[in-house]
Amino acid sequence: MAEKHDKFVNQYSRRTLFRVGAVSGAVLAAGSVLLPGSAAASPGPTVLLNADKVAGSALRPFGRHIAFGADPSQQVAVSWQVPAAVTAPFVRIGTVPGDFSPPIPAEVRALTSQMSWQHPVEEVPPNSPKSITQYYLHARIDRLLPNTTYYYVVGHEGYDPATRLGEMASFRTAPAPGGDGTFSFTAFGDQGVGYNAVATSSLIAGLDPAFHLAMGDLSYALEGEGGHPEEDKYDARLWDSFFVQNEPVTAGIPWMMALGNHEMEGWYSADGYGGVRARFTMPDNAWDGSTCIYSWRYQNVGLISLDGNDVCYNSPSNLDYTKGRQLKWLGRTLAAFRADPTIDFIVVYCHQCTYSTCHSNGAELGAQKDWAPLFDKYQVDLVLNGHNHIYERTDPIRAGKAVKKVPSRGTTDPVKDGTTYIT
Ligand SMILES: [Fe+2]
Repeated sequence: MAEKHDKFVNQYSRRTLFRVGAVSGAVLAAGSVLLPGSAAASPGPTVLLNADKVAGSALRPFGRHIAFGADPSQQVAVSWQVPAAVTAPFVRIGTVPGDFSPPIPAEVRALTSQMSWQHPVEEVPPNSPKSITQYYLHARIDRLLPNTTYYYVVGHEGYDPATRLGEMASFRTAPAPGGDGTFSFTAFGDQGVGYNAVATSSLIAGLDPAFHLAMGDLSYALEGEGGHPEEDKYDARLWDSFFVQNEPVTAGIPWMMALGNHEMEGWYSADGYGGVRARFTMPDNAWDGSTCIYSWRYQNVGLISLDGNDVCYNSPSNLDYTKGRQLKWLGRTLAAFRADPTIDFIVVYCHQCTYSTCHSNGAELGAQKDWAPLFDKYQVDLVLNGHNHIYERTDPIRAGKAVKKVPSRGTTDPVKDGTTYIT
């Protein structure tokens, strides 16, 4: 992926290359805030004419989406977007509606995409910018109270959300780790943007889960296999539609993301994940520089997000890009979860399927060879996948073979029977 990225970008001007690099470097520094008029905030024309001069009062935040930290009983990340550069973005939060904390500063991650990379969904854009800059804002909030409903608003200099009706959202932190109260969560992959995606999102809202797992191929801003910038079709602005579409749900229910092949956006380094890193704040506890590979726990359930692109022969642009690091980390993390007497269940989720009957995307041999033996060894209860656009559940599997037949609504004992895989 890295070579493809360099080759592709080098087809365009070196000046463009350096400009993109400068922006990425500036905004990924922790806590950096881009000010209007600064070099990094003005990479060229944006969707809004003279966007760096737009007053803060005219820039309404949109696309709020929240995620749990590794300890969801006290950690939540609030993320959102603004249409152009803003000053001093913030979150205000409290346990009583309208009674908010002082502003908690947010980090700005500006993501610039050249129009020459794009295959616009709409033929006639509002103007003809040479580049698009999307401004993603993120605030990690820690030391919250367990099992507590919090209310929050987001704003920036010139935009006071407390004076605007309908801007408040709420979420609930997890009960303290180790509890065994009943809860439900939802999961799907391959959502995209459109009326079916809206309907699916609405179903999630109706079920009111404690959290939702979104297992890759999120927006389909990238059409094609992923990882091939010279031939994939891409429109970065579809991500705006994705976040707006899901905001009624994602503003209040944490969505935990895993990466799919459509997240391999080869225009952004490193490994095509620069865009993902600008847009999302997931728990960041695998290793320095890992992307959307993480572990966390909800009550007595240990959860692990894996990057299936690392073991994917089907779309091999990032095959073995972690050089075995993810596999080692998975082994260590599963061992730690199984050694923890307060964790009863282990759920692993990722995009590509370890087992599947589909003939198109199908199953990943890499997952069967590298991951399944670890799932067996540490008695993983459940593996959740996307990629194949179907619903499918296996009987419990161990050592590559189904152990016993489990009918619909039947029960299984993962210790004796093996791991259940659901697409
Ligand atoms: Fe996929």
